Amino acid sequence: MEIDIFTLFPDWFEWLAEQRHVRNALAAGTRIECVNFREHTPLGAGQVDDTPFGGGAGMVLRVDVLDSALRARYGVDPVRLREDRRVIALTPGGRPLDDELVCELAAEPALTLLCGRYEGFDERIIEHFATEQVSIGRYVLSGGELAAMVVCDTVLRKLPGALGHEKSAIEESFSPALEGRPEYPHYTRPAEYRGWRVPEVLLSGHHERIARWRRERSHERGSPGAPGAERDGEED
Ligand code: 6GU
Repeated sequence: MEIDIFTLFPDWFEWLAEQRHVRNALAAGTRIECVNFREHTPLGAGQVDDTPFGGGAGMVLRVDVLDSALRARYGVDPVRLREDRRVIALTPGGRPLDDELVCELAAEPALTLLCGRYEGFDERIIEHFATEQVSIGRYVLSGGELAAMVVCDTVLRKLPGALGHEKSAIEESFSPALEGRPEYPHYTRPAEYRGWRVPEVLLSGHHERIARWRRERSHERGSPGAPGAERDGEED
C-alpha cells in the first residue's frame, strides 16, 4: 500500500513512522510519504492560504496551491487523479471513520490524505480534487494531521504483518468477527490481586466455555454500530 500525505507539517509524521507496527508495515513494503504543499505553491513567500471571501475568521487553503501540489506529485490533472485513487480530505464534518471504513481503506492499493489547517479547505478542493471527506469524530482539531495519523494507524494495523499476532486484528473491537461490537475484557497474571479475582472460566482451560463467555461479555458491552452507547435492546 502507498499512502501520500499532503501537509504543512511533514515532520510530525516522523514520530508516526517510528512506531513499531508502522515500522513493521513499512518494512513489509508499505510506503508513507509526505508532500509539503508549501514547497509547491505557485504564490510568493510560501503562501498557501488566504482570507475567506465574504469575511469571517481564519484562513482557508487555496485551491490553486492544492492543484499545483497534486500535479507536481502525480503528473496529472488532479481532477483526473481521483479516477485512479482515493483522495481523502480530512475534515471535521466528513464521513465518520469506523472499522468498516478502515477495512475499506486497508484494501486500497493507494491513498492520498489531504490535511487542512486553520478554517480548512477552499470548497473547490473538496468538490473537484477529493473523492471524499473523512472525520475522526465530532470535535474540531486545529488541523487534519492528527486525523491523518489516526487513519494511518488504524489502516496499517489491518495490513498483514503489522501486528505481532495476526489474530489480534481479527477478533478486535468493532470487527466483523465480533459482529461490530466492542471487545470482551482481558485479564492476565496475577489471577488474584487485592482480592480481585479473574473470572474463573478464563482459568478453566475450557475453550468452548471461554469463547461463549467472551461472546456474552462483548454483547453486554454494546450493540453493533453504536459504539458504547447502548446495551442490546435498550437505550441508555
Ligand atoms: Cl479529519 N480534521 C479536523 N480539522 N478536525 C477534525 C477532524 C478532521 N476529525 C475530527 N475533527
